[in-house]
Amino acid sequence: MTNNIVIAIDGYSSCGKSTLAKALARKLHFIYVDSGAMYRAVTLYFLRNNIDLHDPSQVAGALKNIHLNFHSRDYQTHITLNDEEVSDEIRQMPVSDNVSAVAALREVRHEMVKQQQRMGRSKNIVMDGRDIGTTVFPDATLKIFMTADPKVRAERRYKELHEKNPDITLEEVFENIAHRDYQDTTREESPLRRAPDAIILDNTNLNPDEQLQFALNCLNRD
Ligand code: CDP
Repeated sequence: MTNNIVIAIDGYSSCGKSTLAKALARKLHFIYVDSGAMYRAVTLYFLRNNIDLHDPSQVAGALKNIHLNFHSRDYQTHITLNDEEVSDEIRQMPVSDNVSAVAALREVRHEMVKQQQRMGRSKNIVMDGRDIGTTVFPDATLKIFMTADPKVRAERRYKELHEKNPDITLEEVFENIAHRDYQDTTREESPLRRAPDAIILDNTNLNPDEQLQFALNCLNRD
């Protein structure tokens, strides 16, 4: 069965990819997969176990011990790392500050991409990330490349994080987003870039309903 539908949503950090992906999945009754959560969970494991990113045998050994699982409840991402629910912890700053370095490692990417491709093999899915339309599903039915003004992105993410962590500052969030964008676009292994056939969606001035409408229109276009 290969005629399932895959919607790939890529783009810069904190520009609303998961909001759009969840809304599309809900509307279309598709499975939503947050590929970033996988890199974040791997990063959490690496941090907890002091894995040296420059030591390929440590990295390979760690990857063998990592088992990730998604449990979708009402289109919210619930991810377990070796059966422990880590959905909240992976959003905290220690993980955000290290995830792009971990996600740049070839061994990590190969393993995650393999798992992601397996998830999209027989089901209709919406997956968001950085390399979904370029590497994971180059034949996706629809590819959207999202972007937004960096200041607007930082303000949105700050609002989200500040509710759970009142100590966080807007500057810290802005710096983290800028740094991750730099690392994600300049890495050697499948860097963040727009697939030639991806439709650009700049949502600086769009609300969630408007961006959902934009994506649904794209889907009906051909
Ligand atoms: O939600 P946010 O934009 O903050 O990022 P995320 O989707 O949770 O992804 C976290 C990090 O994982 C990114 O900054 C990338 O370094 C990495 N990532 C990746 O390399 N490839 C993907 N397909 C998804 C995420």
